[in-house]
Amino acid sequence: NSTIGLKDASTFPIGTAIKIHTLMNDAKLQKIQKQNFNSITATNDMKMQSIIPTENNYNWKTVDTILNYAETHNQRLFGHNLIWHSSTPEWVIAKAEKDSLWLDSFMKEYITRYVGRYKGKVAAWDVVNEAFESSGGNYRETFWYNKLGKSYIEKAFKYAHEADPDAVLFYNDFNIERDTTKLHAVIKMVNEFKEKGVPISGIGFQMHIRMDIPDEIIAYSLKKAAETGLQIHLSEVDIIFNTHNDERLGGIENYSSLTDEMKQAQAEKYKNLIEMYKEIVPKEQQFGITLWDFTDRDTWIRGFFNMRDWPSIYDDNLQPKPAYLGFLEGL
Ligand code: XIL
Repeated sequence: NSTIGLKDASTFPIGTAIKIHTLMNDAKLQKIQKQNFNSITATNDMKMQSIIPTENNYNWKTVDTILNYAETHNQRLFGHNLIWHSSTPEWVIAKAEKDSLWLDSFMKEYITRYVGRYKGKVAAWDVVNEAFESSGGNYRETFWYNKLGKSYIEKAFKYAHEADPDAVLFYNDFNIERDTTKLHAVIKMVNEFKEKGVPISGIGFQMHIRMDIPDEIIAYSLKKAAETGLQIHLSEVDIIFNTHNDERLGGIENYSSLTDEMKQAQAEKYKNLIEMYKEIVPKEQQFGITLWDFTDRDTWIRGFFNMRDWPSIYDDNLQPKPAYLGFLEGL
């Protein structure tokens, strides 16, 4: 039945991140989106760079558009993200250089206004994104870290919680499914937060994975994270073939075309991932699974890493791939 979508087969929300402009201007994409998903994340439109690109210039228009879409089509709106070094506007960095006391008050004002404005409407937030090094257990020495120390992380959670006590607040990062040193460092921080009463409610596994990341390690990582008792969100799922030379993913580009065999293997990998999530994460901690762009046509991977790959469950012509069926079977 072509009207049955992934969301109908699932007991937890199934989401996708998407560029809002692309979604609004493509009727076919919208149809597939509505059919399959009951949660939506903006790939870039809710980041700081989009919200306050220049000083005193809050830009809510696109967020209002997404919110309206989410409400009209009964989808959960997921807020990505409040604090991320990669999306900190230049003007913020310049101003903080001159006045380091200003930064904390700006962070408080930004989070309070933003989360407050969408109180009760944005169900959950990635409060801080990627605060640890790509690999290993050290804090990433970002602009935020250098200016405010690691306490910027817990402050962000407190400000968000004060602005919307009902919002589900996540710490989100990548490689924590494969790098156990990094995973353990994140879990240590989370446990400290819990002891100190810092209002954290979930761990987001971005889960940008490669075909060669062993399922056993992913299973171990999910289990460890679930033991914190927090919500677990697979927040940015995609599965690439190439092992290319970016520090975030490692290795070199080594596939130039997509064979039937590769399609089948990818379907299996998607299925295993969904099954592991269902089996390992207790039901009451299953916040959902979100894909990061759901078509090979729109995937961020090709542009961002400048390589050919096919990470998504729909292909370049917006047709479901074997990976779609693998995902469905896993649910
Ligand atoms: C990516 C977007 O998809 C790209 O369009 C943008 O150029 C860079 O950011 N981890 C995250 C996401 O938390 O915000 C990133 O999104 C992908 C990696």
